Amino acid sequence: MEPTISFFGLGYVGLTTATCLSSKGFKAICYDIDKQKVNTINQGKPPFYEPNLSKLLLKATKTGLLTATTNPTDAVLNSTITFITVGTPSNPDNTIDLTQIENAAKTTGKALQQKTTHHTIIVKSTVLPTTTQNIIKPTIEKTSGKRTPKDFGLCVNPEFLREGNAVQDTLNPDRIIIGETDKESGDTLESLYQNFYSKMPPIIRTTPVNAELIKYANNAFLSTKITFANSIANLCQKLPGADITTITKAIGLDKRIGPLFLNAGLGWGGSCFPKDLKALSVFAKKMGTPLPLIDATLLINHYQPLRAIQLTEALLGKLKGKKVAVLGLSFKPDTDDIREAVSIRIINELLAKGARITAYDPAAMHNAKRIWNNKIELSTNAYKCIQGADCSIIVTEWKEFAGLEPEDFTARMRNPIVIDGRRVFDPNKFSEKLTYVAIGLGTERIDPLEQPDEYGWLNPALSVNAIIQEKNRILLVKRKNTPFKNQWSLPGGYVEYGETVENALKREIKEECGLYIDSLNLLEVYSSPERHPSKHVVTLCYSANTSGGKLSKVDEVSSARFFRINEIPETLAFDHTQMINDFFHTKK
Ligand code: UDX
Repeated sequence: MEPTISFFGLGYVGLTTATCLSSKGFKAICYDIDKQKVNTINQGKPPFYEPNLSKLLLKATKTGLLTATTNPTDAVLNSTITFITVGTPSNPDNTIDLTQIENAAKTTGKALQQKTTHHTIIVKSTVLPTTTQNIIKPTIEKTSGKRTPKDFGLCVNPEFLREGNAVQDTLNPDRIIIGETDKESGDTLESLYQNFYSKMPPIIRTTPVNAELIKYANNAFLSTKITFANSIANLCQKLPGADITTITKAIGLDKRIGPLFLNAGLGWGGSCFPKDLKALSVFAKKMGTPLPLIDATLLINHYQPLRAIQLTEALLGKLKGKKVAVLGLSFKPDTDDIREAVSIRIINELLAKGARITAYDPAAMHNAKRIWNNKIELSTNAYKCIQGADCSIIVTEWKEFAGLEPEDFTARMRNPIVIDGRRVFDPNKFSEKLTYVAIGLGTERIDPLEQPDEYGWLNPALSVNAIIQEKNRILLVKRKNTPFKNQWSLPGGYVEYGETVENALKREIKEECGLYIDSLNLLEVYSSPERHPSKHVVTLCYSANTSGGKLSKVDEVSSARFFRINEIPETLAFDHTQMINDFFHTKK
């Protein structure tokens, strides 16, 4: 007789795993606090779009093998194994939010109080190394009054399923990782999988901390692999004749590299990569071992979506009033999930620049409505979306977009310009009939890197033409290649992920002016979210000294831009106005 399994948390991982187990005859009791979700599941309907899931779920609920409940005690008492599959989202400071994990551990612990037989708890949620031993285990022990391994077993069993492929990945995983706190619980979980898979996938039984870190290392490697392809793609764009698709095909044939996760594009998003990489980066820093490679991956990916804006501006000039069609909103094809999708960055930036947006996605329209409501026009199909547009951007590589022909665009668009952010079209075919630019395709027509936006946003390496310096203090800079080249501006710049403002300024001033700054006196950080909805904009006001001076501590920010002097609000202008006046006064 197969064991009955309970699930805590019915997102992609929990519901897909439960449904797949039921499809092979296992009984699953699925617990979630969300009543509506529980009702929908009991009707045999998944609360999100996932290929192949509805059919299996409907069958599982009809046969009674899968039931959903809002009663956690029933779920634990009527099962012998509990999978914890709740979410582990990011806090605003990029640390991992363990609220749901802690609640699940407490709820399971409380339910265990009433249990007279041994129970096994499996942590499938993504948690940072040591969380299971240091947080989950003591929480369950405290609330249940029981001890592991005597009364209950505990394992970490990370999940590697991809949205859009969740069923397939659950039924055919590359491997199974079991991080066991004791041998018996590892045996219990292994035997569950032995019964589930007709051909057992490779299995690695190890410590909980290894299992936890394997999950992070896996996601970090995959996203870094994509970012590597994106970086080479960005270089290709500067080299006429170069094409990233040929380059990744060639390097992917090297068995040591492999072809998967090398598709260059506008960057990665989703519910896992962004939060996991940020959490790993912060965790590693806290452990005293920063991971600059991961920080670089995050930084490059932060800017990657903006390449779509850069290309649009390079082709259309000022975007105010221009109609831009966005094809694809979900973070990848075959899902309606829009979490951390690059479409959000792209659309918000286009809106901030005054463009009018029409958008279409085969599955994510309801989520798009929630985010933008009537700020953008949502079309019912791709053809309506591109009608009358000045430019079309492919943001997600849905299969149906690949079927569009150049004539579909030329017949409908006001200005037939296509920016292929996911390399879905044949460059030769499209270039013949319309203006076609693509990520990773070298082109002689435009040179986007020479066209930074008005704040020099996309080009962190903008060099300085001149600086006004008083003794060792840098007051103002003039920059090359910006529309402000004739104006003095405050030195300041990009703050990288995880970098403090002080360090960023020191780095920038060193890079740009060749000066080593010993200390900085940061006067104020000012952000203006109304003007810049992306909320990534800050103005930095500070004075710098090559020796001595105060170092004031500030919080980390994700990025910064330059502002014109006359844009600095009155309250902050004081110090600089004073400095400038003093300077010119002394000069005279
Ligand atoms: C990922 C991991 O793949 C999975 O193992 C883990 O369990 C959860 O996180 P998921 O986020 O569902 O899965 O999607 P995935 O297919 O990995 O794609 C993530 C992002 O990378 C998407 O935005 C996708 O468009 C992008 N991507 C993927 C690329 O840009 N290029 C590629 O070659 C592959």
